[in-house]
Amino acid sequence: MGLLMELTHRCPLRCPYCSNPVALQRAGEEMDTDTWKRLLGEAAALGILQVHFSGGEPTARKDLPDLVRHAATLGLYTNLITSGVLLDAASLAVLADAGLDHVQLSFQDVEVESAERIGGMPGAQARKLAVAGMVTAAGLPLTLNFVVHRQNLDRLPQMIALGLELGAGRIEVAHVQYYGWSLMNRDALLPSRSQLDQATAVVEAARVRLKGRMVIDYVPPDYYAARPKACMGGWARRFMNISPAGLALPCHAAETLPGFDWPSVATGSLAAAWYESEAFNRYRGTAWMPEPCQGCDRKEIDWGGCRCQAFALTGDAGRTDPACARSPDHGVMLAAIEARGEAVPDFIYRQYGPAPVLPVKAPVGE
Ligand code: SF4
Ligand code: FES
Repeated sequence: MGLLMELTHRCPLRCPYCSNPVALQRAGEEMDTDTWKRLLGEAAALGILQVHFSGGEPTARKDLPDLVRHAATLGLYTNLITSGVLLDAASLAVLADAGLDHVQLSFQDVEVESAERIGGMPGAQARKLAVAGMVTAAGLPLTLNFVVHRQNLDRLPQMIALGLELGAGRIEVAHVQYYGWSLMNRDALLPSRSQLDQATAVVEAARVRLKGRMVIDYVPPDYYAARPKACMGGWARRFMNISPAGLALPCHAAETLPGFDWPSVATGSLAAAWYESEAFNRYRGTAWMPEPCQGCDRKEIDWGGCRCQAFALTGDAGRTDPACARSPDHGVMLAAIEARGEAVPDFIYRQYGPAPVLPVKAPVGE
């Protein structure tokens, strides 16, 4: 269905919930233009419908227009996932002319000071607001993306209002998922139950009020759920990610999982990675599932939840996602909610170099 091309991990922002791996790849490790083009050709041949150009910040790559044009020529639907801070009217016009179909623009908050503190980049908000206007002026459909958490969730009504004001056809409100950078920052990001309930009510009311004007996608947080999400629509069922250096992954966080030999598409093919690699086949379907998933009537609905979350919280990616109330590890999630303090810790910002060493927390749920 979809191919997410993480063209680069370079990005001027430093969001503490970045979905890139903690060990970021550097510019010198990125694949070259011809290799990305070859992969676009293979994607079209495989019947992939949508290509998402992502990062890091994909507009940091000078060859982005060339890649967009190549994808459009192949008949692929192209989406740019961007922070917007490196774009201007001229570069957007070039992308529109290259055949770009859609822009997804991220905002860290609606309040300038908070947004720039969360993103770790002074001056970013004004640029984003200007870019939103340029996107609609260029005739491109616009989606605003807000990653929400305890430090911005109370401003959800203003986020929805901003979407309307900027002419977005869609707004995506996604609670932080906790692995990699965001797991390190969990206590600074995890909302309270009452914050969450209020946000859910705001979304439900806005959906009714704005029907036909703006679509609101809402990704609720696993930590207050009784059942997990079908992460990525199920492991290796619908989506493939390509890292800047050319590792094929079933999701953006899979590099956090140890014990995998991720197939390289810098040297191998997309088809071989998708159909033949042990990594993609390991958790595909239902045969791998332990109990209680194996005997559960929801196993082809949520596919056992998220493998990266299972690993992050239990140390074993093959266990039932602890977000599920039927999981024997569900207590780990409840304990994390319980341990969430009133004091909000400082962010650990995304950065290159060795990951910060955190104090080891006492095991929970045992
Ligand atoms: Fe989903 Fe497994 Fe929980 Fe059943 S037991 S709801 S399949 S995670
Ligand atoms: Fe990797 Fe859910 S993020 S399987």
